[in-house]
Amino acid sequence: MNKDTVIIIDFGKNLNQMVSRKVREANVYCEVMPYNASCDRILSKNPKGIILVGRSDSATTEKPPEFDPGVFGMGIPILGIGYGMKLMVTELGGKVEEESGGESGKVEIALETDNDLFSNINTETSCWLSNTFHVSVMPHGFKVLARSRNCAVAAIGNEEKKLYGVQFQPEILETQDGEDMLRNFLFRICECRADWKISSFIEESVEEIKRKVGDKRVLCALSGGVDSAVAAALVNKAVGKQLVCILVDHGLLRKNEADQVEEVFRKQFDVNFIRVNAQERFLSRLAGVTDPEQKRKIVGEEFIRVFEEEARKLGKIDFLVQGTIYPDVIESGVGSAEVIKSHHNVGGLPEHIEFSEIIEPLRELFKDEVRKVGLELGLPEQLVWRQPFPGPGLAVRVIGEITFEKLEILRDADQIFRDELEKAGLNKSINQYFAVLTGMRSVGVKRDRRTYDYTVALRAVTTRDFMTAEWAKIPYGVLERVSNRIVNEVNGVNRVVFDITSKPPATIEWE
Ligand code: XMP
Repeated sequence: MNKDTVIIIDFGKNLNQMVSRKVREANVYCEVMPYNASCDRILSKNPKGIILVGRSDSATTEKPPEFDPGVFGMGIPILGIGYGMKLMVTELGGKVEEESGGESGKVEIALETDNDLFSNINTETSCWLSNTFHVSVMPHGFKVLARSRNCAVAAIGNEEKKLYGVQFQPEILETQDGEDMLRNFLFRICECRADWKISSFIEESVEEIKRKVGDKRVLCALSGGVDSAVAAALVNKAVGKQLVCILVDHGLLRKNEADQVEEVFRKQFDVNFIRVNAQERFLSRLAGVTDPEQKRKIVGEEFIRVFEEEARKLGKIDFLVQGTIYPDVIESGVGSAEVIKSHHNVGGLPEHIEFSEIIEPLRELFKDEVRKVGLELGLPEQLVWRQPFPGPGLAVRVIGEITFEKLEILRDADQIFRDELEKAGLNKSINQYFAVLTGMRSVGVKRDRRTYDYTVALRAVTTRDFMTAEWAKIPYGVLERVSNRIVNEVNGVNRVVFDITSKPPATIEWE
């Protein structure tokens, strides 16, 4: 049975993910399409409903030329959010005026509740307004469904055609009843079934992988990252020993990381596991290299070379598993083009091996869903909650020239930082945190003796999409413990600093 699907049309600014997550949390499957998707393409998914989101800057009322307003006439229920409502008004014969200095932020609104969108919601509620436009002429057949205190139109609807627009953002927490409004749209208006569940996803994927793979063999490169680990566990559940996992240990992983991955996959999942200890090979190629981009290139190339050599030893393998997840494949609308950086592919797919097919079992999932699948398959919390780790690993966290000694110093300092953040219960709220071994040495005193040792920098950020980030406000007490432990327990370090720069202008990594 096909699952009920909602299409989210994205007009940019990366707002689609918040909405998609809310829809999926309501157990309804959704997919994001860019605003230039044709009506045919949308209809091919047989959607039960459409949500228009994006472009929070109300700089323009013009519709983007590539958007097909035929969407409004397909007979499919539509919810236009913010800019989406504006388009709905102007494309269906109404008019909007830009309001500079109008209401924005948290605003009290009064709802009409005799309609499906606001059914069972309090008549007085508060919402988050980020678009400030004013509907001066209503489109034909529409009614005002909500007004703000100074009477601006905050929501409209044409119940017969099932077209609705809200000026506020129902997907964010500040909109008090936003979740109920979205649920009303999904279940009352679109009449979706709540049939998107992690357990059924696993069952369906396992069946699909079995069907696809038959009695052939599958190869997976494990990096220790969440996505590849979950993908491997899922494929393993489907085809057992037909899966071969290769872990290339390039010596640039964090403390004990390779061992942990090996332990989980060998002992718990009993997969065919090959660990390639290639530390020396990587280190010798990196010797004397200080330029970050050069380091990335070397690690990327060498990774592929090692992986290919191992794969060749196995003879013909028909399928390659990739841990691609949904945010990697979403085509975004205007203004959010730079979703994946080219360097994110480092350590990724080897291009020179011939496989008849790629299997991407997580292609439809958001990160939090990938984690749920991982937990349900029995992967340990520690692996499932692992923070992102760059393909070139510690090569870009040892500033300047890389040596084995420096890597060991960094591994120890990083382990202490992670350990203390976990103890302080901060590990899930801070999205990425790590130590950096700066190339700088400075004078200090340890046990009454002068030292001339390295400075370790601590980096910790909160971020939604890793494109922008804020430095995490870690309590002083925790920082103090981390610093004390690092200078006392790690030889070669006599100074610890905390990076208080946001991205931009700094990047998250130091190199
Ligand atoms: P930056 O430093 O660009 O990092 O702010 C954003 C996110 O990307 C990760 N990152 C990388 N990931 N290969 C990767 O696979 C790389 O070369 C690379 N460089 C940065 C970084 O850890 C952060 O999560």
